Amino acid sequence: MNDERGVLVAGNWKMNENHFEALHLVTELAALFRQHGLPPGREVSLHPPFTSLRTVQTAVETDHVPVALGAQNCHYEDRGAYTGEVSAEMLAKLGVTYVIAGHSERRQLFGESDEVVRNKLDAILRNGMRPILCVGETLEERREGDAAAKVTGQLVAALERRRPEEVATVTIAYEPIWAIGTGETASAEDAEEMCATIRGELVRLAGPRGELVRIQYGGSVTPDNAGELLGCPNVDGLLVGGASLDASKFFAVAAAAPSRAGAAGASW
Ligand code: PGA
Repeated sequence: MNDERGVLVAGNWKMNENHFEALHLVTELAALFRQHGLPPGREVSLHPPFTSLRTVQTAVETDHVPVALGAQNCHYEDRGAYTGEVSAEMLAKLGVTYVIAGHSERRQLFGESDEVVRNKLDAILRNGMRPILCVGETLEERREGDAAAKVTGQLVAALERRRPEEVATVTIAYEPIWAIGTGETASAEDAEEMCATIRGELVRLAGPRGELVRIQYGGSVTPDNAGELLGCPNVDGLLVGGASLDASKFFAVAAAAPSRAGAAGASW
């Protein structure tokens, strides 16, 4: 992490929590946030399923919980004959700030191509929200030595020919696919190495503004590894799946202090 960029911890609830359960979870979280607060420069977003967005938004506003509302996905058109889809425009009207685009589950299970992900970024930005763009390699790609090429290819596809000011508003989530939901986390060294590669590519694409982009790590983040990951110079946040469904675990991740272990070259 770096003081200028700040830290964003995002809770991706995936297809969990109906709206009753969502209300319960957000009420528990609200109590923890009120009681303990968060470190300075720390931002938190909650990404419930579409059906719980309104519930979470109301709870967060009523209780003045210092978290931003997030979504997990959107369609790239603002309206039209797209049965079953939800547009970025609709999310913006609900007070959503952050929208995840190109999560590996969307890419792998729902066939989202780089082109679709790019169009989704367009829609999110056009509607005044901030994308969290997910990138990451499979285990096979890592073993073959193709991880960096895969990740930079995904970045280029989504970000090239964009204005640097626009790129600066995007958050990148580096999520090695083999670490998602598996209990296997990238080591802090591996996470830092890839996030530094991502940083280099962002600077190539957007010039000095690339230094302002926040890069999250995601993949089996827990209260036990959050501090070490946040201690890496190019890790500016975490995208949390499983652990975001448990209020005390998610709060512990959100409030984790960066630790030095594994953060070779950290500047503080
Ligand atoms: P996980 O999911 O924390 O359960 O591994 C992370 C994600 O998919 O965003």
